[in-house]
Amino acid sequence: MRSKLSSFGFFLVILFVLFQSGSPARISGSQSEAYVTLLYGDEFLLGVRVLGKSIRDTGSTKDMVVLVSDGVSDYAKKLLKADGWIVKLISLLANPNQVRPTRFWGVYTKLKIFNMTNYKKVVYLDADTIVVKSIEDLFKCSKFCANLKHSERLNSGVMVVEPSETLFKDMMSKVATTPSYTGGDQGFLNSYYSGFASAHVFEPNLSSSVRNSRPLPEMERLSTLYNADVGLYMLANKWMVDEEELRVIHYTLGPLKPWDWWTAWLLKPVDVWQNVRERLEESLPGTGGGRNPNEDLLLKLLFLLPLFVLLFCCYRSFLQILKDFFEALCRGSLCDHVKRIYYKFRAGGGLAYSTVGVSSSSIINTNQSKVPAYLGGVSICVCFIAALVSLALALAVVPRQVMPWTGLLLMYEWTFTLFCLIFGGYLHLTYQWGKMTTQAGSLSSHPESFNYDSGKGHQRQVSTCDAATWYYGLGMAFLAVAAPSLPCLFGITALFLRLGLMVVGGLVLASFMTYASEHLAIRSFFRGLEDQGTPRIRSTRCFC
Ligand SMILES: *[C@@H]1O[C@H](CO)[C@@H](O)[C@H](O)[C@H]1NC(C)=O
Ligand SMILES: *[C@@H]1O[C@H](CO)[C@@H](O)[C@H](O)[C@H]1NC(C)=O
Repeated sequence: MRSKLSSFGFFLVILFVLFQSGSPARISGSQSEAYVTLLYGDEFLLGVRVLGKSIRDTGSTKDMVVLVSDGVSDYAKKLLKADGWIVKLISLLANPNQVRPTRFWGVYTKLKIFNMTNYKKVVYLDADTIVVKSIEDLFKCSKFCANLKHSERLNSGVMVVEPSETLFKDMMSKVATTPSYTGGDQGFLNSYYSGFASAHVFEPNLSSSVRNSRPLPEMERLSTLYNADVGLYMLANKWMVDEEELRVIHYTLGPLKPWDWWTAWLLKPVDVWQNVRERLEESLPGTGGGRNPNEDLLLKLLFLLPLFVLLFCCYRSFLQILKDFFEALCRGSLCDHVKRIYYKFRAGGGLAYSTVGVSSSSIINTNQSKVPAYLGGVSICVCFIAALVSLALALAVVPRQVMPWTGLLLMYEWTFTLFCLIFGGYLHLTYQWGKMTTQAGSLSSHPESFNYDSGKGHQRQVSTCDAATWYYGLGMAFLAVAAPSLPCLFGITALFLRLGLMVVGGLVLASFMTYASEHLAIRSFFRGLEDQGTPRIRSTRCFC
């Protein structure tokens, strides 16, 4: 009986302790302190979602407030609420500076965090930051804390602020007269807190008794751990601070924002961001993993469309090759086929050193005069212009905030398809051109001199040409894949080395393209010449 009673008492004590330790901390936490960020438009929405997820991942239960301005859509607000953000509407504070970058129109709005007087203290984080380790100790920091960057200047990407109406009013009264070196809020804060560079460094590990015995500092400096700039990483290709202790990563590099798919292929630290993004919950239907439900259908279309175009354009030539191949197989002359390919490559290899891109020496003697001298040069120009145009179009077509792999895949698909269409169209033009060029002796009387294909007839010759085009096309595709993936193969993470290797790969690709484009154009010109005598009409196709 005694033991039963005592164990019951023990149970009560446990309950009491749990209640004591649990609830007051939560209540005071959710009411007086908060994480804050700002959202001006839907472009940074994904950034805010990932930031929120990263804060919750560190185990924080504090309020997360996002101040949104007019430019933000209702859907974005709904999504952020579903993610657990408290959404507060604010009006933009106009920028008083006449000389400033246009994108800085509303950045003074950031000062409104000093007016969030229903919180005792707020930790402000830019939407392009991510928390990798708990930063709850920042709430112990004094009235104003930030991090020094670029010599003596404070960076307003991560700040600890004690909101106060008098402070905010004072700021507002000085906004118009205080100079700002950036033309934005950061410059203003640097002028307003002019003595900041000499502030002491915030020491989170100081015991509260030591802290309370010192005079309360007006402002404190945060160590780099709380605002680690990706630019810093790029300089040395590693974090110049203890990576284990890193708290906040700030993706500052201008156009290289972590939500753009290509950034993941350039900057190593974006992996951390993408990892959090992949784990985003589906708080509204179709938003898991940071996907955009409005884009889902578009992505599928974007993926399938070029595939269909490619298939439609090439199925004829491909079927022809297959037919040819199987015919050869059935007649047991596969060996012949391989031999022909071998000859073609040997001929091609020899040609790389000659200026005339024709595959047969006999043809040079008889028909060289008919090839316009500028055909090769024009073809090379067309080839490079086609490549650039298709790259630019593909970049414009692929949505920016898709996953890195999706972006890369779509990019290749679109570039390749567009290039095939443009350059294939050009080749068809050269074919027509060749067909219209007058010639004395008909070439079609001895087509076998063209393709090392004696005795196999006309049909064979057409199909092997298509095969050659396929080899070139596949070669280009292979090089186009290999060039950018070189750095990954070698495990190189430094931005400049990565870019350097990509340039080398690009040069190899460019020289191959130079050779292939000239060769293909002259080939199709000759085929035009040669088809003059025959009544057969070729169907339009994209490769030949
Ligand atoms: C500052 O906060 C007060 C009270 O919360 C509010 O009435 C006032 O409009 C705010 N000022 C600005 C400029 O937002
Ligand atoms: C602060 O304390 C934590 C453990 O409580 C430790 O991991 C960390 O290294 C300390 N930081 C500094 C700057 O001493």
